[in-house]
Amino acid sequence: MSAALNPRTDEIAVTPLSAHIGAEIHGVDLAKPLAAEQVAAIRAALLKWRVVFFREQFLTHEQHVAFSSQFGELTLGHPVFGHVDGHPEIYSISKFRKATRFEGQSLLRPWTGWHTDVTAAVNPPFASILRGVTIPPYGGDTQWTNLVVAYGKLSAPLRGFIDGLRGIHKFTAPSGASGTSEFEQAVKERSLVSEHPLVRVHPETGERALYVSPSFLKSIVGVTPRESQALLELLWEHVTRPEFTVRFKWQKGSVAFWDNRSTAHLAPSDIFDLDFDRQLYRTTLVGDIPVGPDGGASIAIEGSPVAAAAAVELN
Ligand code: SIN
Repeated sequence: MSAALNPRTDEIAVTPLSAHIGAEIHGVDLAKPLAAEQVAAIRAALLKWRVVFFREQFLTHEQHVAFSSQFGELTLGHPVFGHVDGHPEIYSISKFRKATRFEGQSLLRPWTGWHTDVTAAVNPPFASILRGVTIPPYGGDTQWTNLVVAYGKLSAPLRGFIDGLRGIHKFTAPSGASGTSEFEQAVKERSLVSEHPLVRVHPETGERALYVSPSFLKSIVGVTPRESQALLELLWEHVTRPEFTVRFKWQKGSVAFWDNRSTAHLAPSDIFDLDFDRQLYRTTLVGDIPVGPDGGASIAIEGSPVAAAAAVELN
C-alpha cells in the first residue's frame, strides 16, 4: 500500500442512527486516497443505510472531488443551476441559492421541499456528496427518508397497483409560489422533463423503491388529474413518515453521502427564520436510467441526459 493511502482498513466503524436509514462512519480520512477495502466498506454501508455521514473532514474543493471520484464519475455541479467558478464538479448549496428563490406564499404541505436530486433528468445522479463549511450553531438540519422501506410498508394491493405506473418529473416553483426571474430563466434555458416509473428497481440490490420525488413529480401518466393528485398526495404523505427518516445535525467538516436511487431528502427551511449563514458544497455522481418492475425504462421528454463533467465542454 502506498504511504499516501489511508493506513488502516480495519478501523472503519459504522454506527447506525435510526431503524431504517442513516449511519455515521468513523475511522477514515476522506482527504487521502482510500484503499480498495475502504471504498468497498463505504459502498456497502451506503447500500445498507442509504445515507452515510462522516465527521471532522475538512476537505478542499479538490479533495471533495477526489473523494467523490473514487465512487463514480462526477457530473457538472448542477445541470440547471450551474457550478462554482473554476470548479465544474462543485455545486454551491448557499442559503439563498437560485434553486430556492421564490416569490409569493407557497402552499405548505407535510411533504413540501422533499425531493430526490435532479429527477427531472432521465438519468438522475446515483449519489450526492454534501460537505458542510459554514454551519449555523442551531437549526439547519437535513432529513432523509428510505424509499425502499416506504415501498415495503405499503399494502400488497396498492404495491401491485402502482408497480405499473409512471410519472412526469420537472423543475417548477413550489405550488402557490412563482420562481424569481433568475430561477425561471435557468429552468427555461436548460429545460429538463422526464417520465420515470413510480417504482424503481435498485440496479445494485434489486430492491423496489417508491420513486416519488415530491418536489419534481408533477403527475401520474394515464389517470385523471384528480386521481393523480389524490394518489400522489397519499404516496408523498407515506414516504415522509417520520419512522422512515433520519435527521442529521451538521457541524463544520461533516460530510453526507447518499444514494439517490433509494432516498429522498429535505433541505432545512428553518434557516430562513434565523440570521445565521449556511454554506455547503455538493458533488453528484452520474446515474443510470431508472427501470420499473416491468422492465420499462425512464424516458427523456425534454433535455439531455446528465453527462460526466469530464465529457462536457464549458464555454
Ligand atoms: C440538497 O438538497 O442537496 C441540499 C440539502 C441541504 O441543504 O441540507
